[in-house]
Amino acid sequence: MSDKVHYSDLGLVNTRDMFAKAMAGGYAIPAYNFNNLEQLQAIVTACVESRSPVIIQVSKGAREYANATMLRYMAMGAVKMANEMGVDLPVCLHLDHGDSFEVCKSCVDNGFSSVMIDGSHLPFEENVALTKKVVEYAHQFDVTVEGELGVLAGIEDDVVAEKSTYTKPEEVEDFVKKTGVDSLAISIGTSHGAFKFKLKEGEEAPPLRFDILEEIEKRIPGFPIVLHGASSVVQDYVALINQYGGKMEGAVGVSEEQLRRAAKSAVCKINIDSDGRLVVTAKVREYLANNPGEFDPRKYLGAARKELIKLLNHKNEAVLGSAGKV
Ligand code: G3H
Ligand code: 13P
Ligand code: ZN
Repeated sequence: MSDKVHYSDLGLVNTRDMFAKAMAGGYAIPAYNFNNLEQLQAIVTACVESRSPVIIQVSKGAREYANATMLRYMAMGAVKMANEMGVDLPVCLHLDHGDSFEVCKSCVDNGFSSVMIDGSHLPFEENVALTKKVVEYAHQFDVTVEGELGVLAGIEDDVVAEKSTYTKPEEVEDFVKKTGVDSLAISIGTSHGAFKFKLKEGEEAPPLRFDILEEIEKRIPGFPIVLHGASSVVQDYVALINQYGGKMEGAVGVSEEQLRRAAKSAVCKINIDSDGRLVVTAKVREYLANNPGEFDPRKYLGAARKELIKLLNHKNEAVLGSAGKV
């Protein structure tokens, strides 16, 4: 295992100050997943261009894919790159959907400034016990912790949930008090992946359950809420994928208007992964179809990176409201 390192030595920050400002300012911090260099370059560039604080997050699978030590220095590189671009960008490195104390501890020891412990599939008291154990360890190093109550449909690393279970507002106060978490992910109708709703011809996606969110806000006023499964599944990219040999008919996400409304509430962190994946896939497919003789990854990944920067700028400016907050 690699040597221990504290996130402050990498130039990273935890979520505390970011969330306090987002709560007061009525916007949400973008939490973008990344697995490789081009995704991270795009995130940094877009957040510098739009002056948005950012949470860069890796799943357990991404950590296995990219190597924990490599990720640590990529995050450090992200901070330095932003700096060289002239912006002192607040960057938080976050573990997405940690599923055990051990993986969270390993991240805390390896330079992460925030971790999620996802005990949402466990019975309430077991979720409390696991989350509390992570909080007690992480807080010794001023690493912030996200917990989850309620289950989202879709895939979260190795866990696949067929159906979602909305968060029960009557449980949140007790959970937050007993665990000491810094933020809480809730289930109000979003889900993971690119197929969030099964819609018939002409049907619209059902609205998020803002009534549940409001009930939760009443019970834990001013407490930072996190929204997972918040990709909009931009239809232009789905169409490009299908046009160039892909097969993603029926892919649909959460509307930007619903996310804008959430960002103005106690929702301080909005998780987006699938939209980034769609852009990259669409642009790589398009580039290779139009340039069949090309075999330099910089060409097709460069095209994908350029489009991803455009999309993330748009998200920060028009959806999350985080642009101009640095
Ligand atoms: O919530 C799940 C994220 O989109 C991460 O997905 O486990 O395939 O990296 P992954
Ligand atoms: P999407 O699949 O909607 O992008 O959600 C990502 C997410 O919640 C990561 O934790
Ligand atoms: Zn998630």
